[in-house]
Amino acid sequence: MRVSKAILLIILIIVIVALIRPNHRENPPPSSQYQRAANNASSDLIRLGQKCDIFRGKWVPYPKGPLYTNTSGCGIEDGVSCIKFGRDTEYTKWRWKPDGCELPVFNPTRFLELVRGKAMAFVGDSVARNQYKSLKCMLHSVARPVNQTTETGTRVKRYFYTHYNFTLVYIGSTHLVKAVDVDPFSLKPARLHLEEPDETWASRVENMDYVIISAGHWFSRPLIYVEKNKITGCDMCRSNNVTDLTRYYGYKKAFQTAFGTLVDRLNFKGTVILRTISPTHFEPEYWEGRGNCVRKRPFTRDEIRIDWYLNMFLKVQMEEFRAAEREGRERGLRFRVLDVTEAMRFRPDAHPNHYGHPPGHPKRYADCLHWCMPGPIDTWNELLLQMLKSENKEGSEDGKGLL
Ligand SMILES: *[C@@H]1O[C@H](CO)[C@@H](O)[C@H](O)[C@H]1NC(C)=O
Ligand SMILES: *[C@@H]1O[C@H](CO)[C@@H](O)[C@H](O)[C@H]1NC(C)=O
Ligand SMILES: *[C@@H]1O[C@H](CO)[C@@H](O)[C@H](O)[C@H]1NC(C)=O
Ligand SMILES: *[C@@H]1O[C@H](CO)[C@@H](O)[C@H](O)[C@H]1NC(C)=O
Ligand SMILES: *[C@@H]1O[C@H](CO)[C@@H](O)[C@H](O)[C@H]1NC(C)=O
Repeated sequence: MRVSKAILLIILIIVIVALIRPNHRENPPPSSQYQRAANNASSDLIRLGQKCDIFRGKWVPYPKGPLYTNTSGCGIEDGVSCIKFGRDTEYTKWRWKPDGCELPVFNPTRFLELVRGKAMAFVGDSVARNQYKSLKCMLHSVARPVNQTTETGTRVKRYFYTHYNFTLVYIGSTHLVKAVDVDPFSLKPARLHLEEPDETWASRVENMDYVIISAGHWFSRPLIYVEKNKITGCDMCRSNNVTDLTRYYGYKKAFQTAFGTLVDRLNFKGTVILRTISPTHFEPEYWEGRGNCVRKRPFTRDEIRIDWYLNMFLKVQMEEFRAAEREGRERGLRFRVLDVTEAMRFRPDAHPNHYGHPPGHPKRYADCLHWCMPGPIDTWNELLLQMLKSENKEGSEDGKGLL
């Protein structure tokens, strides 16, 4: 596969911008109409037919708009604070409508009650952080967590919701496995030790009740694979003496190792949730990172394009997930899928594009990879809430139907 430097450069710049965003201070609470509606809502799925699959459906108009605003002070990072930088709010006026049921509006109190006394970790790259931040904003109207981060740097964040005895953690990991020479500014391949987990997360998840794990776009950059201390292959490394094993080889092994670590670490007793790969919407160069994402509305089913890369990543991660699920079951571990891929395929309109920085800022590449906040990434956490609810009524129809 031929590589264009420009493409890589763009992806890496997006990643860098995402990595070095500043922290925000906490501001006074908002009082939102949304919060009243949410507290009023029963937050139970409303079944309309026999079959309810919360991960399959369509986006329908929703004039009420987003679940929180850019003034709620929950720490929306500039890179995804699209409305702040002049984006209109139309993209927020859609709601996910699963086939056969209605997804209730997120109820932050319900969420916090369900995770009372628990600890939840988001493990992954800046898209995982995107979801973690979204959750923090969605909970912001009912509870302010205490910053319990002890680590320096930006890779680990730890917050404690005192009233609910709930710990929310983000652990940054680009490839899930041990990765050396990860330099977003360089085209030098990252060296992946495919059999060794990235200890940054592996050493921190043992006591977690939920580990929400994901990986994605870093596997579209040049990679060298190391197994048993030997280079076994690469992807896009343009070396004559190293076999090109494709990016999917590394992706597969990374999930094998990550899931294997969770299954083998005998003290881990939590639930593993695979958050499936998040689509990008660069146009005209789909996936590869060149172009823009200027669309103003969700795709219709007819407009959706087949994204071969995305389908392959999804297939590979699901295969590894199924294998791990079987193994984990023997040890009483629960494996669940938070499938966001299908819903997000429809949302080319919800990436920052050029609204992640002040207008007139020296030209940057378009970000068609992360998701604006507020925006449809909030739906990921609405789906997560439904999963937590069905966990709580094990064996019920919900439990089977959703997970
Ligand atoms: C709250 O629920 C009641 C009954 O279900 C309904 O009549 C009322 O309109 C709801 N209020 C809001 C603010 O959603
Ligand atoms: C929120 O967005 C508006 C534009 O709708 C902008 O004028 C304002 O500065 C933003 N506020 C913050 C705190 O980002
Ligand atoms: C808080 O949760 C932890 C488990 O995460 C539990 O061990 C502890 O007893 C809880 N504390 C209170 C006060 O409920
Ligand atoms: C949270 O605490 C860590 C460690 O003390 C600190 O580096 C970080 O800036 C804090 N975050 C916020 C948002 O205050
Ligand atoms: C491939 O060749 C380069 C230089 O020709 C060498 O530095 C490198 O170690 C070789 N790699 C392998 C896996 O043999």
